[in-house]
This record gives sequence, structure tokens and C-alpha cells, in this order.
Amino acid sequence: MNEEQAMDRAVMLAMAARPHPNPRVGCVLLDADGTVVGEGFHEKAGEAHAERIALDSAKGPVHTAVVTLEPCTHHGRTPPCTEALIEAGVKRVAIGSVDPDDRVSGSGIKVLEEAGIEVAVVGPDIGDIDPGYAHHRRTGRPRVLLKLAATLDGQTATASGESRWITGEQARLAAHRLRAQSDAVVVGMGTVLADNPRLDVRIEGFIGPQPRPVVISGTRPMPADHSMVDPLIYAPSDGRSEVDLSDVLIDLGGRGYLNVMVEGGPTLAAAIWKAGLVDDVVVFLAGRIAGGVGKPMLAGVFGSLSEARDVHISGASLVGKDLMVKGSVI
Ligand SMILES: NC(=O)c1ccc[n+]([C@@H]2O[C@H](COP(=O)([O-])OP(=O)(O)OC[C@H]3O[C@@H](n4cnc5c(N)ncnc54)[C@H](OP(=O)(O)O)[C@@H]3O)[C@@H](O)[C@H]2O)c1
Repeated sequence: MNEEQAMDRAVMLAMAARPHPNPRVGCVLLDADGTVVGEGFHEKAGEAHAERIALDSAKGPVHTAVVTLEPCTHHGRTPPCTEALIEAGVKRVAIGSVDPDDRVSGSGIKVLEEAGIEVAVVGPDIGDIDPGYAHHRRTGRPRVLLKLAATLDGQTATASGESRWITGEQARLAAHRLRAQSDAVVVGMGTVLADNPRLDVRIEGFIGPQPRPVVISGTRPMPADHSMVDPLIYAPSDGRSEVDLSDVLIDLGGRGYLNVMVEGGPTLAAAIWKAGLVDDVVVFLAGRIAGGVGKPMLAGVFGSLSEARDVHISGASLVGKDLMVKGSVI
């Protein structure tokens, strides 16, 4: 196996876990002939890093370590990976990208080079493997996905607030898959009171960690009979009428929730959109027309064309009888 193939395999291994707040990392070890002698990935924060797992599994001398992210140099809950690579007598380390975390950020490469190990940064970028981690370390905030669902004519609920269900079964399954990739799912109090959602992943056979349910509340208290497990509730303090959504995101990031999905409703969706805090969007457009004005996807007034912001549409597909449009905010 050449280094490029080994990196493809390491990326695949990295994607197998969601160890947030730590990054997804995969590692493949090659001997001098390019034979794979070990591999591993970081499964859970607090547990062994990918390089250590791979080295522990090594079936012979290691010449090259191919690892998706720069090895760490700091003592956290586990010892530094640079130390393990040096002790194992590795000759070359091929790294996907430099770790954007301030505690590493080039120091891993320096330590390895000072120990006489050849280091090459060969891609792919951590942003392609673990967008939530890369975004958090670069901006201090989690990556925010805004999920919207409406009829083809843009109505997210009836005038009286009924929205179950606007989209069909397959679109709802796709939405559960988005939850499965999220560390936290956020709604406003209006949605809690109207729908009493669970905000959990309900896919047959799903064994991954459930996202943390998060509620943004204003004046109305959380109902005692809500259906969420251990929701995190943000309410205004210091006499303010609104929660600062940027502060909420910074707090969620600090708790290790690096991929956050906002599921509405229209008031919260508009607030987070207007605050410029949305990174990605997924819009489900149901194959049906409401034929009148109920609740829009985003509340508030659209006063001037200059207020609209561009979205780079990266894909559109049919899910059952509905359309799913994916994009990232430019
Ligand atoms: N089709 C869909 O996919 C979908 C998804 C979600 C919701 N919905 C529908 O949307 C309707 C609910 O609409 P909605 O606009 O009331 O829902 P919402 O956005 O979930 O909730 C709005 C409420 O959240 C609180 N809130 C939002 N931003 C805040 C901030 N920055 N600071 C403090 N509090 C904040 C306020 O609570 P207080 O009132 O306590 O101040 C506000 O009234 C329901 O009919 C629901 O079925 C549809």
C-alpha cells in the first residue's frame, strides 16, 4: 500500500467515530516495504489516541506512520502521541493537516523533526474529515447546521401551529440521520410548546451517542411534561429579554458539542440566521402546496433584497416524495 492509499484508509478509520470534543483521527502504520503493520482510530475523548492504538497493534517494525492529523505534544488525559512515535523508532510521519488547536498547531511537527523524523503534510485538511472540530478550533464556535422543512410554497406550519407532518416518512428519516451526525439539537420554546419534541435519533439499529437536546427559552417556562432526556436550557439573565445566541454557541462548544443542528422554529431560525451564525443549511421541501399563509420558515420581515445572503447549494436530491436541498452559507 502506498502512502496515499494508507491516508485514504486512515481517513475512513477516522470517520468511524465521533470523539468530540476531541478530533476524529485515524492512523495507518507501514513497514519499509509499504505493508500495513498496524492501524487505529480515536474512538472516545479520554481514551487512547489513534497513533497509540495503531502502535499497540503493530505486528512488526514501523517505518511510516500515516495519520490524518498532526500528532499531539501535550499531556491531556493521555500522554503525547509524538512521544509514542519517537519511542517506536518511526522514520517518517505523513500528516493530513496541521492541528488547528492552539495547544498543538505546528508543535507536533517540530518535536518529531527535532527527533530526526521526516515529516510531510500531505492532506486532506481536517475540515474535510471533521468540519465541527476544525470550525470550533478556528472560530471558537461549533459548526451550525440550520434544518428547515416546509411545503413547496414555503409554509413550515399552519396558522394555528400544526406541522406534524409537513414532510413524508423518508424526509423525516433523512432528518434523523442529520441528528445522528449532530452533538446537539437546538429548538426554541415555541417548538417545545407546540410539538413537545424528543429531539433524539430514532433510526432502527442506531447505536451512536444521542445528541443533547437544547432549548432556547425566553419568557415561557419549560413545561413539566416535556419529552426530552436531560435538556440543556438557555434563558435570558441579567434582566435581558433575549438570549445571546453567540454566547450559547460558545458555551455549547466549550461543552464539547461541535456539530450543532438548529431545528427551528421560525423565530429561533430567523434569530440565528440574522446573527450570521449559520454555516450550513438543509431545507426539506415537501411535495405538497399549502395554498395559503401559515408560518414561514423564518419569521420576521424581509424588507430589502440586500438582506438576502447567498448559499452555495452543494446538492439536491429526492427523498421519497420530497426534495432535500443542502448548502453552505457563503
Ligand atoms: N416544519 C418544521 O420543520 C418545524 C420545525 C420547528 C418548528 N415548527 C413549527 O414552528 C412553530 C413554532 O414557531 P416559533 O417561532 O414559536 O418557534 P421557536 O422559534 O421554536 O420558538 C420561539 C420562542 O423561542 C424563544 N426564543 C427564540 N429565540 C430566542 C432568543 N434569542 N432569546 C430568547 N428566547 C428565544 C422565545 O421563547 P419565549 O416565547 O419563551 O420568549 C420564542 O418565543 C410550531 O408550530 C412548530 O410546529 C415547524
